[in-house]
Amino acid sequence: MKTKVILQLVMLSFAIFLASCVKEGPAGLAGLDGADGQDGLDGQDGNVTCLACHSGNTISSRQFQYASSVHKAGTNVAYAGGRAGCAECHSSEGFIEYHANGSVDSDISMPSAINCETCHTIHTTFEYTDFALRSSTPVAMKIDAGTVIDLGDGSNLCINCHQARTAEPNTASPGETFRISSTHYGPHHGPQVNVFAGIGFAEIAGPVDYPVAGTSKHYQEASCTVCHMGDYVDKQGGHTFNPSLAACNECHSTTSFDYGGVQFDVEEKLVELRDLLVGLNVVAWSEADGAFEPNPGTYPMIQAQAYYNWIGLEEDRSLGVHNPQYVNALLTNTIEALKVVK
Ligand code: HEC
Ligand code: HEC
Ligand code: HEC
Ligand code: HEC
Ligand code: HEC
Ligand code: HEC
Repeated sequence: MKTKVILQLVMLSFAIFLASCVKEGPAGLAGLDGADGQDGLDGQDGNVTCLACHSGNTISSRQFQYASSVHKAGTNVAYAGGRAGCAECHSSEGFIEYHANGSVDSDISMPSAINCETCHTIHTTFEYTDFALRSSTPVAMKIDAGTVIDLGDGSNLCINCHQARTAEPNTASPGETFRISSTHYGPHHGPQVNVFAGIGFAEIAGPVDYPVAGTSKHYQEASCTVCHMGDYVDKQGGHTFNPSLAACNECHSTTSFDYGGVQFDVEEKLVELRDLLVGLNVVAWSEADGAFEPNPGTYPMIQAQAYYNWIGLEEDRSLGVHNPQYVNALLTNTIEALKVVK
């Protein structure tokens, strides 16, 4: 587009240059003015209101908060943001293309971190309504397209990205054994909506009953935005996307996220489960990556499922808060099952 405009300008000046080379005599007198033309029709009223947004602190307050968000830091954009298979969640361009076309067709050469335009339709009609979310429709789960989740508010935007990508072993490939194919095997780093809704983990039988999906108090009364985007206070809430204590205290009084000691308990169980997996040689410490990783290989189904539950709940990173009962049932039952194996 820009190239074309420049090209036309060059041709025009070339024509003027040619014209100015032709020798001419002195100009004659100017003719009379012509009659006035007809008045044009009135145009439609313009709704373009840059100042509806570009004034006061509407934008700057969010920019200030967003400076503390991991989204803005975009740590993995260079690594994953350009790849067609990853871009829908890992770059702004990828997410926008995915929501316009339903897919990302090819790699993106200059991926950028998630920004205002990723989540909001800004600069479309140039009205305040452009702050509408790019998508807030219910989301079909990647691990089971038949499961569609509707959190009833802007949180539907979050769960396009914050969901598991790989189903638990016995759903993905039912059988006696399961092959853990790489050190990266697992649901992928952000299975938050699966934990929140209580779906998709390996429900190994044991002493604790699994709650019915979607019945937790948090699922029914809160949502991603309620806990993560409450009023901004001190690097929490608002557009930092960090959960805020102020939000918790809207419903129950607590001085830390470890309400009722749930996070402490979950952290202990995660360590116990990991150590059991290390004992079975499913997991080992990798000096190179500075992390506990699975040893690729074929394992009894229950052990592969136990690994999936451990890494998934580890990477959910709410330490039980997203769904206290479901997480407790998964960890308690998985630990009991592995103790029997040993
Ligand atoms: C819906 C609210 C909204 C409206 C209406 C709007 N803008 Fe913006 N504009 C934004 C946001 C949000 C950004 C991105 C700020 C950022 O990236 O941190 C932006 C960015 C810009 C930028 C880039 C510089 C900057 O501040 O980051 C320019 C230039 C701009 N807008 C011009 C305009 C003009 C001109 C209009 C009217 C024709 C307009 N905008 C209407 C919300 C709006
Ligand atoms: C469905 C969305 C989605 C897709 C597709 C996706 N990711 Fe992610 N990925 C996420 C989310 C969400 C996080 C951050 C979760 C968190 O911080 O809790 C993440 C985190 C990561 C991290 C950081 C892990 C860490 O320990 O900090 C890496 C690396 C990564 N992804 C690589 C990839 C690669 C490579 C691909 C493509 C093969 C990919 N992702 C595809 C959603 C996705
Ligand atoms: C990761 C997605 C995401 C990003 C990035 C993001 N926002 Fe938002 N924004 C939201 C969501 C979700 C809401 C609705 C929050 C709620 O429901 O409480 C929102 C609400 C808003 C609102 C209030 C809109 C209204 O209805 O009046 C403004 C203004 C806004 N964002 C501006 C910005 C600006 C400016 C940026 C960039 C600095 C930005 N947002 C970046 C997700 C995002
Ligand atoms: C376009 C995909 C996408 C959307 C939409 C999105 N996120 Fe994220 N989010 C990510 C990725 C990817 C990361 C990790 C950044 C990285 O590793 O580069 C992340 C990181 C985070 C983190 C920080 C995790 C940490 O490392 O501490 C929080 C909290 C978070 N997101 C919450 C939300 C909430 C709440 C919403 C909805 C309002 C949302 N996200 C919408 C992709 C997304
Ligand atoms: C009941 C409140 C609550 C709800 C609802 C909630 N979260 Fe969280 N979330 C938390 C808390 C608390 C943490 C752990 C923070 C900590 O311990 O530092 C957390 C952790 C996270 C993290 C890891 C980053 C971090 O700061 O540790 C991500 C990403 C995340 N939540 C995304 C989501 C998404 C997406 C949803 C909706 C599906 C959601 N959360 C719903 C409270 C909530
Ligand atoms: C919209 C209301 C609401 C919000 C917001 C909310 N919770 Fe809850 N939460 C509840 C209800 C209701 C229960 C079940 C009754 C109870 O245990 O108090 C509960 C239970 C819990 C439990 C289980 C307690 C136990 O001993 O089993 C934890 C942990 C928890 N919430 C942590 C948090 C944290 C941390 C936040 C803020 C990041 C938060 N909640 C935000 C309503 C909420």
